[in-house]
Amino acid sequence: RMMIEIMGINVMEDSLKEKLGVRRVIIVPGNSDDLPWVKEELGRAAIQSMKACVSDHTTIAVTGGTTMSAVAGMLTPDFASPDMLFVPARGGIGEDVQNQANVICATMAQKSGARHRVLYVPDQVSREVYESIMKEPSIKEVMALITSASIVLHGIGDAATMAKRRNTSEEDLRTILDGEAVGEAFGYYFDVHGKIVHKVKTIGLQLKDLASIPNVFAVAGGASKANAIQSYFKGMPQSSSTLITDEGAAKELLKGS
Ligand code: G3H
Repeated sequence: RMMIEIMGINVMEDSLKEKLGVRRVIIVPGNSDDLPWVKEELGRAAIQSMKACVSDHTTIAVTGGTTMSAVAGMLTPDFASPDMLFVPARGGIGEDVQNQANVICATMAQKSGARHRVLYVPDQVSREVYESIMKEPSIKEVMALITSASIVLHGIGDAATMAKRRNTSEEDLRTILDGEAVGEAFGYYFDVHGKIVHKVKTIGLQLKDLASIPNVFAVAGGASKANAIQSYFKGMPQSSSTLITDEGAAKELLKGS
């Protein structure tokens, strides 16, 4: 405990990188649970670290959530060229409109002067609907853009918080709670061992597709998300991931190590 208090941010970044097995960790000061502006700092840091990986024709696939929305808010025209493209990573997963990837991509494109595409599919579709949607040429085209993205930018959520915030059915809610999910990303819910206990059915990027994405940026902060962050990285191949987090989450994650 004492050790954590006196650790510098650089030391914490290295320790966390080791612990989670990711490519890189960036920690911004503060705890976004308590101080809302820390989320904007997460956004700023995420943009800064993505800059090293973008070129004129980069495609960036983006998820939803308030953290992604904060990243969008921090983008400026110097980030992108007009040929860069933002695409939503997955179809609807039950979020309110301001937290949806489609809306966030549109904001990102607008603020940075780049382009965006949308992926409108009904939330949580049946097998039959899914199969016919997948045959639509416009959907196929966006799907191809998503899987060829060289950057994926995503949030990580606390499982119970996300399940309640989203339009989750009683049945799915029970699966998530009974499965003791702690973390969520891309509509997948993970338990403490990183096992997937539930997955929202929607089109777009699937977790296994991440393995072939060269640069993945996970942005998640706040002490309350420590368990969620840990569970997500337990279940995932992380060697191409950069985690952008805050001191609040980092201190909690490093407790006991
Ligand atoms: O998938 C992760 C969630 O979208 C994170 O949402 O940034 O609002 O906590 P949040």
